[in-house]
Amino acid sequence: MAKQGLQVAIDGPASAGKSTVAKIVAQRFHYIYCDTGAMYRAITWKALQTGTDLGDEAKIADLLAHSEIRFEPGTPTQKVFVDDTEVTLAIRQPDVTNSVSQVSALPAIRKELTSRQRQIAAEGGIVMDGRDIGATVLPNAQVKIFMVASVAERAQRRLKDNAAKGITTPLATLKHEIEERDRKDSTRAVSPLTQATDAIRLDTTSLSIEQVADRIAEIIREKEMQE
Ligand code: DC
Repeated sequence: MAKQGLQVAIDGPASAGKSTVAKIVAQRFHYIYCDTGAMYRAITWKALQTGTDLGDEAKIADLLAHSEIRFEPGTPTQKVFVDDTEVTLAIRQPDVTNSVSQVSALPAIRKELTSRQRQIAAEGGIVMDGRDIGATVLPNAQVKIFMVASVAERAQRRLKDNAAKGITTPLATLKHEIEERDRKDSTRAVSPLTQATDAIRLDTTSLSIEQVADRIAEIIREKEMQE
């Protein structure tokens, strides 16, 4: 695997800056970037579109079994497709954001997406971000980062991201949504948000995106030399 690059797992709570940093790091090393949250969002989007009961695990699992979720390169962000429909923006809308915790708590959904994620990462040379990558999806990843930041800072970052996408949710609501999502992601029965014992914890509250990316790049380079 060393020749093709390492597996880099970046986990942490909502809006800690994982995907922004993961994309930069992937670019620097010419690694593939995989946003696993987008996969949970994509199946949630399809469930909402098709009017599938979000509490009906068997129905949603069946829907996922018949759904292709894929990424395509794009600027400024990777494009996300469900079957032949582009959902890059649709999966960031509040209806999906507010329902995704429910869908991602379903064991059958986690099992299937975990298996797809392992296939994507099998060759190495990948930066994968999510909640359970270091602890569950890629327990043998050579680099594991657990990114955290204060709720206030994360709400500010989401406000800025949203503004760029034309979403106008107020700051107080964003704070509340982030706290709610942290609570749900950390307390669900299957694969809750947890720091892998061998992950490096990075508090990004007072760091710039570039500073975080530099730190992670340094860790990857050190590991690459050891491989
Ligand atoms: O990172 P995000 O906000 O796009 O993630 C969307 C949701 O998916 C979030 O509520 C947590 C869940 N998720 C998960 O359970 N496991 C992952 N590996 C990635 C995301």
